[in-house]
Amino acid sequence: MHFTAPALVAILSASVAVAAPTASNDKPSYDKDQYKKDCKKDWDNKWENNDWKKNEKLFYFDKEFYVKATPDQVISTAGVPTPGQPGAKGIFKYGINIAENTICYNITLSGVTGNYQSMAATATHIHQADKGKAGPPRIAFPNPRGPDERRVSYGCLTGPFFTNTTNAATGKDNGADFHVKEIVANPSGFFTDSHTASFVQGAVRGQLA
Ligand SMILES: *[C@@H]1O[C@H](CO)[C@@H](O)[C@H](O)[C@H]1NC(C)=O
Ligand SMILES: *[C@@H]1O[C@H](CO)[C@@H](O)[C@H](O)[C@H]1NC(C)=O
Repeated sequence: MHFTAPALVAILSASVAVAAPTASNDKPSYDKDQYKKDCKKDWDNKWENNDWKKNEKLFYFDKEFYVKATPDQVISTAGVPTPGQPGAKGIFKYGINIAENTICYNITLSGVTGNYQSMAATATHIHQADKGKAGPPRIAFPNPRGPDERRVSYGCLTGPFFTNTTNAATGKDNGADFHVKEIVANPSGFFTDSHTASFVQGAVRGQLA
């Protein structure tokens, strides 16, 4: 469709008039009642048309990761290769929803023994660093629990994230300003790991891509 300039002006001013500009500026005011009505209509539509039932996915992830973590990938905080626990391995599965700044996790460790240990709030993390490099934790997950043959941890976390480690430059928590969209944008810039008392630099580590 093609509109002449005057026609467009007419259309635009008509729509602005409907949205009732405020006196203080030109922005249309936000009509709370209309918003509520729209939300209810949307919900009623879904209810009546069984939209949720028809959808295959009830939880939406922009991106999913399946990461194999091994002892040989561990790098110390000084940036030096420092092998983790011999024979240990981990499968770290993640699902990320960008709009909700939410990450769901399903972590299984096998052959990781002894107590967890870390300066951070937990000892199971996503850190920001390329392969072979060290970097700060951005997300701290509840540590996998269970027998040493199969320790598991699953659930979801939503930002702002808390690692209990401080960014020296900002004085804020390393997770505070972190958004999961950064992982989706550059997965190879992130790794995941678990630290134990015997393998403080990491028992296993895996790069997200
Ligand atoms: C986690 O993954 C394991 C398989 O590795 C599966 O058996 C289990 O059901 C998953 N847990 C959740 C909460 O999805
Ligand atoms: C955070 O770390 C401090 C020590 O630096 C500790 O006293 C505190 O218990 C930790 N809090 C959590 C929730 O991990």
